Amino acid sequence: MQRIKINDIFDPALIGKEVSVMGWVRTRRGNKHVQFVALNDGSTIRNLQIVFDLEKFSEADLKLITTGSSIHVIGSLVESQGKGQSVEVQADKLHVFGAADPEEYPLQKKGHTLEFLREKAHLRPRTNTFGAVLRVRSALAFAVHKFFQERGFFYLNTPLITASDCEGAGAMFQVTTMDLNNLPRLEDGKVDFSADFFGKPTALTVSGQLEGELGATALGAIYTFGPTFRAENSNTPRHLAEFWMIEPEVAFFDITDNMDLAEDFIKYCVRYALDHCKDDLEFLQQMYDKDLINRLEESIKESFVRLTYTEGVEILKNSGKKFEFPVEWGTDLQSEHERFLVEEHFKRPVILTDYPKEIKAFYMKLNEDGKTVRAMDVLFPQIGEIIGGSEREADYEKLLGRINELDIPMKDMWWYLDTRKFGTVPHSGFGLGFERLVLFVTGMTNIRDVIPFPRTPNNAEF
Ligand code: 4AD
Ligand code: MG
Repeated sequence: MQRIKINDIFDPALIGKEVSVMGWVRTRRGNKHVQFVALNDGSTIRNLQIVFDLEKFSEADLKLITTGSSIHVIGSLVESQGKGQSVEVQADKLHVFGAADPEEYPLQKKGHTLEFLREKAHLRPRTNTFGAVLRVRSALAFAVHKFFQERGFFYLNTPLITASDCEGAGAMFQVTTMDLNNLPRLEDGKVDFSADFFGKPTALTVSGQLEGELGATALGAIYTFGPTFRAENSNTPRHLAEFWMIEPEVAFFDITDNMDLAEDFIKYCVRYALDHCKDDLEFLQQMYDKDLINRLEESIKESFVRLTYTEGVEILKNSGKKFEFPVEWGTDLQSEHERFLVEEHFKRPVILTDYPKEIKAFYMKLNEDGKTVRAMDVLFPQIGEIIGGSEREADYEKLLGRINELDIPMKDMWWYLDTRKFGTVPHSGFGLGFERLVLFVTGMTNIRDVIPFPRTPNNAEF
């Protein structure tokens, strides 16, 4: 008999039919005559109630049905008499796949804290909260591909192991096969990387952008969607050492086109989740964030505010607010500044543009003022920076000038510079931190709770 997923079982046409269901037991309760089991198979936040008549089953048959055990039930689907569910299964046959000793299974009672569940990340996908978050995450990943594919972008896979540092922040994880306890040395005592696997120092990538630009200046419009790695030691609710980034890159695109794309893209993803993850979002709203669905609806109705960094700094300086980090033109904005602009001043998403060149990466297009670059950061309520991007410097001489100013080794950059030497075009792109989008859409507050197995300083368990 074909198994039916619980998500498909609430179909009125199935009432009265015999069904076969499999899943993990959430709870069991009842009395001497009848036992009720709440079964979940991960396909939906909703549990299916299974009714065991004790005239058909003995206590011994049901003994192994405890929270966390896995079972197979065949029975008839009937309209439910009780409150809280529309249908239930009257069990005829039971098979227990695996028991879960109540003394040992950690997810016994409801209402574990999120901190506790982080230590049980191997089992937490079985909770309502993580089931909901992971289903929303999956739907958003699908929406990302759908958005770009429908618009003629090509999905480009860029390397994870790289010899160049895209963002120049120096926060990279080294990749080596050398024995760290016995490193080959040059005469001056430095490590001899010619003996390493790639014959030179390599690291995990912080961004696929540079290779993305190679794709865009050939295919016209590409996007990447893959893991990125940053060894920055920032233990915050917004930073992971391993996170997923989506990086579109488009030829013949200026900064305004880029802002329009970023805004459309985020709104599309939020709309997709609202349309396809209703049950899960309602659950998350009820449990964690009473205003969640309303906030999501509002965020896609209004257009994002667009202003320059210089204007933003003026607003912050005139706000009369005491910030932990004072703002001056030229300083990088902290999360408190970004959140003030978004949550208190404008009360909607903001795109800040034209940052001082000193605080942005080498590849951004220099403005006529010689001081600012055509950068754009999209700032979101609760999140801060959700997107970072720019129009790229398309002029060979100017780009070379920046590379030299910043002392970036040419041996890493010659191939990138070739895009400006041969048929250069104006082009732009951005990077969206996927987990920050999932944070916004689920209303969760810690980035460790929107990725199945988070990687953060001192934490690589599971
Ligand atoms: O602003 P970033 O550093 O931009 C880039 O990497 C560019 N190469 C993107 C591009 O133009 N193609 O990072 C982009 C986004 C940030 O806005 C943020 O959402 C996310 O990536 N991000 C992180 N997310 C989680 N943990 C971290 N440590 C992150 N660092 C950046
Ligand atoms: Mg950034």
